[in-house]
Amino acid sequence: MVPRSSKLMRNESKDESTESEIVTDISPIIDSLKEALESSNKTQLQKKVMEIAQTTGESLRQSGVSYLPLRKDLDQILESKTLERARYYTKRLLKSLTESKTNGINDINLYRWKEYDEILTDSLWTFDKRDTSGGHLGWYWGNFVPQIPHQIFLRFTKKGDWVLDPFAGSGTTLIEGLRLGRNTIGVDINKETIKRAASLIKSETNVFGTRSVLKNGDSTKISFEDLCKRSGASQVQLVMMHPPYHDIIKFSKNSKDLSNTNSIGKFLQGFGQVVKRTYPVLQDGRYLVLVAGDKYQNGEWIPLGFYLMEEVIKNGYKLTGIIAKNFEDTRAKREQKKLWRYRALVGGFYVFKHEYIFIFKKQNEKDSGADRV
Ligand SMILES: C[S@@+](CC[C@H](N)C(=O)[O-])C[C@H]1O[C@@H](n2cnc3c(N)ncnc32)[C@H](O)[C@@H]1O
Repeated sequence: MVPRSSKLMRNESKDESTESEIVTDISPIIDSLKEALESSNKTQLQKKVMEIAQTTGESLRQSGVSYLPLRKDLDQILESKTLERARYYTKRLLKSLTESKTNGINDINLYRWKEYDEILTDSLWTFDKRDTSGGHLGWYWGNFVPQIPHQIFLRFTKKGDWVLDPFAGSGTTLIEGLRLGRNTIGVDINKETIKRAASLIKSETNVFGTRSVLKNGDSTKISFEDLCKRSGASQVQLVMMHPPYHDIIKFSKNSKDLSNTNSIGKFLQGFGQVVKRTYPVLQDGRYLVLVAGDKYQNGEWIPLGFYLMEEVIKNGYKLTGIIAKNFEDTRAKREQKKLWRYRALVGGFYVFKHEYIFIFKKQNEKDSGADRV
C-alpha cells in the first residue's frame, strides 16, 4: 500500500482546512532525487540536492505544506561528509517519499514519522480549549472534547474503518469520524440527544463519503452484532466509550440510563454488560478506548475511572495505556475557581482537574493464549 506516493504530507490541522488533506505534487522532487543518485561524486550530488532545496521551498510553502521535515532531510544530505553517506540519506528520503510502511492499524506512514507532530504520544494531554468548529457546538453537558476522538482515530484506526460508540451523547465521535473518514455507529438512551446529534451530523460536509449510524437504545441490552450487520459492518475496528461518571450528571429520567443507577455497584454492573456486548463485534487485535473520571462522595474520593477500567479488563481486554487529560478552563469554571480553591483549602481535598483515557487491546487469539500461560 502506497497511500501517499505522490504526496509529500498530510496536514490534519482543522485550523487550516476542514478538508483535512493539504497535498502537493512531489513528483519533480522524486525525479530530482533519482537524478542526484546517479551523480558520480559528492559535490555533484549535493549540488543537485541544493537545487531541490532552493526550488521546492517556496512552492511547498505556497501550497500550505510544512516544508520543515523535508528541509531537514535535505540538510542531512548536504552536510554529509562522504559520497556513501550522502547516497544513503538520499535513498532513505526517496524511499520515504515513494513508499509507505504502517503498523496495520492506522494510516501513519512510518517512513515519514517525523511529519506527524500533531499526534500525541505522551501520557499527559492538556488542551487549552475545546474544538468548537462546525457541528462540534459543545452544547451537551457531559460531552468530551473532539480532540479526544480525533487523537484516538489517528492512532488506532484507518480511513474506512468502523467505530462503535455505545454512549454517543451529542455525537462528538460521529462528527469527528465524518471529518476523518471513519464510519461510525453511535447508540444513546436519550432520544432527544440523538435527534439533535443527528441534525448536527447532517450539517457537516461528508468529504470522504463515510457512514454515520445513530441508534436510540439501551447499550446494556442491545445486540451490537445485529446493529453492525444492519449498518453494513461485519465487525468494528474501534470501540470508543464515554459512559456517565455514575450520577454526577443525570442525563435523563430513564431508569435504564446508567446515570440513574442507585449504587456504584449497579452502575459498574450495567457498564460491564455494555463492555461484554462489545467484545464479539470488535475485530481481534484492535482497540477499545474508555474515557472516564472519578468522583467525590461524602468526602471520599471514589476512583470510578479505575473501577471502570477493572470492568473492561475483567471482560478479556488487555490494558495498554492510561492517559491523564486536563479539564480545560471554561468561562463558568474560571469564575468558580476561587470558590473551589477556598472550599478545597477548608475541606482538605483536591479540585478535579483531570480525567482518564484508558486504552485496551482485544488480543489476537494467539496473543491471548500466550498471555494466559
Ligand atoms: C458522558 S455522556 C457521553 C457524551 C459523548 N461522548 C459526547 O461527546 O457527547 C454519556 C452518555 O451515555 C448515555 N447513556 C446512559 N446510559 C445509557 C445506556 N444504558 N445506553 C446507552 N446510552 C446510555 C447518556 O444518555 C449520555 O448521553
